[in-house]
Amino acid sequence: MCGIIGYLGPRKAVDVIIDSLKRLEYRGYDSAGIAIHNGKKISIIKRKGKISDLEEKIKENPLPGNLGIGHTRWATHGKPNDINAHPHKVGRIVLVHNGIIENYKRLKEKLTKEGIEFYSETDTEVITALINYYYKGNIIETLMKAIGELEGSLAIALITEESDNLLVGYRKDSPLILGVGDGEMFLASDMPALLPYTRRFIPLDDEELVVIEGKDYRIMREGKVINKKITVVNWDPISAEKGGFKHFMLKEIFEQPRAIGDTIRGMYSFEDRDFYVFKDNNNFDLTKLSNIRKIMLVACGTSYHACLTSKYWFESLARIEVETEIASEFRYRDLLNLDGTLAIFVSQSGETIDTLQAMRMAKKKRAITLGIVNVIGSTIAREADIVTYTHAGPEIGVASTKAFTSQLAVLFILTLYLSKIRNTLTVNEVETYYQELLKIPRIIENYIKQANREMEKLSNNFLDYQSFLYLGRNLMYPIALEGALKLKEISYIHAEGYPAGEMKHGPIALIDNRMPVVILAPTGKVYEKTKSNIEEVNSRDGISIIFTDDTNNELDDKGVYVFKVPTIVEPLKPFIYVIPLQLLAYHIANKKGLDVDQPRNLAKSVTVE
Ligand code: F6R
Repeated sequence: MCGIIGYLGPRKAVDVIIDSLKRLEYRGYDSAGIAIHNGKKISIIKRKGKISDLEEKIKENPLPGNLGIGHTRWATHGKPNDINAHPHKVGRIVLVHNGIIENYKRLKEKLTKEGIEFYSETDTEVITALINYYYKGNIIETLMKAIGELEGSLAIALITEESDNLLVGYRKDSPLILGVGDGEMFLASDMPALLPYTRRFIPLDDEELVVIEGKDYRIMREGKVINKKITVVNWDPISAEKGGFKHFMLKEIFEQPRAIGDTIRGMYSFEDRDFYVFKDNNNFDLTKLSNIRKIMLVACGTSYHACLTSKYWFESLARIEVETEIASEFRYRDLLNLDGTLAIFVSQSGETIDTLQAMRMAKKKRAITLGIVNVIGSTIAREADIVTYTHAGPEIGVASTKAFTSQLAVLFILTLYLSKIRNTLTVNEVETYYQELLKIPRIIENYIKQANREMEKLSNNFLDYQSFLYLGRNLMYPIALEGALKLKEISYIHAEGYPAGEMKHGPIALIDNRMPVVILAPTGKVYEKTKSNIEEVNSRDGISIIFTDDTNNELDDKGVYVFKVPTIVEPLKPFIYVIPLQLLAYHIANKKGLDVDQPRNLAKSVTVE
């Protein structure tokens, strides 16, 4: 986890680093630290807590200098405290790290025998000590030698006491981006962190080293300099700010019409009557997709819920066998050969380690791998056979919202694409569905303020409840899971999503007059069945909170609370029903005074197992 920044250029390094770290705080916020070279020596300030705490400390000790590194930490080895905070300094080496070194204990023992003393509990101090141990003046040779002994994942930024003109970065299995400015250079864990300074980036690939000296940089792999293309992004830096909302999460919920619209724009041409779905097919022969026999959808958390939703679409419209799997489980399966399988990996960050490793495994088993990611140039985007992007823009709130609906949009388009090439839908039918999808941003736009008002009011009634149930059938089952996940992760209220029909096999025992039960009851295929579930809740005095279509009045007196959402075609209902659930979770957490954007124990991008 963790976020890292490096800077070398004409500006005051401390200002650039603190400012950029704030945009990385979603990656971890247990402690923060900074190291600045002032031309003579390196000064380090670090402390437990958030970047604002670090800033306070810096005010007491201004740090002049044009070279520096900074870190915001999500603890893996060692408690969040001042000593374990990064940067770590051993001898002449100062370093920040994101990742986990699996053999650090063995290395620590070896170095301790050599007389080296350790002060922290971190694996990072061990990396620093190892590099310093080998360091005789040539940092590149030293780094290559030390890295050869490290097992695990690491992205590092490093400076040395000797030079105020040298910044070095390296990555393996954790993200690191080089930002190319005008006479200044940056390192960062992701691109949005640097948007106010540059839009020109080079994402490092695994086992690549970058050496920045003055205004020049060179990227090396296995000791040789390589050429890499600069990626220019057009993300608006303002969109990475809160834009008048109290929290990023609320802003991002309201951004969904824009995010979905940007994602689907240009993916189909009515003129050509054809799809333009894949942005990078890395020379992969797309005609092979006509012959796939099976789809596997793999992801974590909210992205997994998007996969689960799309399973219903792929099956019913593209008429293809589908398996969905949580990435951390998929990784450890004893898979057979996946020839003829399209394995789809969905990830907002494109860096989630379980999803990435699952993809690598599927590739080995000969699946065609497709990445659906939000972060351009992320590892999953680079390593998948084919890639398509959601254009949600930077998602800063730890709880995923706009990335989810954008993922749904891509997955629905992919369903239509496969339906077309497999001839399970006619071109006219495909176009009718696509037209319906195009209406979604406007429909959400028109509905979202009403939903916000309703959920804000409703939230007042549930601030001191301990537990919630969320029920849905068919397409509403993954949405029930997603509603429950949103509530538990930001409000710390226990919440369980359940297939409504499964309730009588256990969870019904929980229902009494202290149990709020959110029931998603759109009209359509399973409506009558869901009505029976509403009766089951009501007859046990559960506090039923029903969501149904605005054309349906039949349930008006069936719930303690009944809310209406816009009526749209059945397959697309997940886009609408998830909106009030995101808002309900937000308002409950906000009114409880919790840290909505950075809930405890969580981090935005889970790059450790
Ligand atoms: C929940 C949430 C997480 C992520 C999960 C996967 O709100 O944000 O459950 O969905 O960690 O992350 P990505 O999509 O980056 O792979």
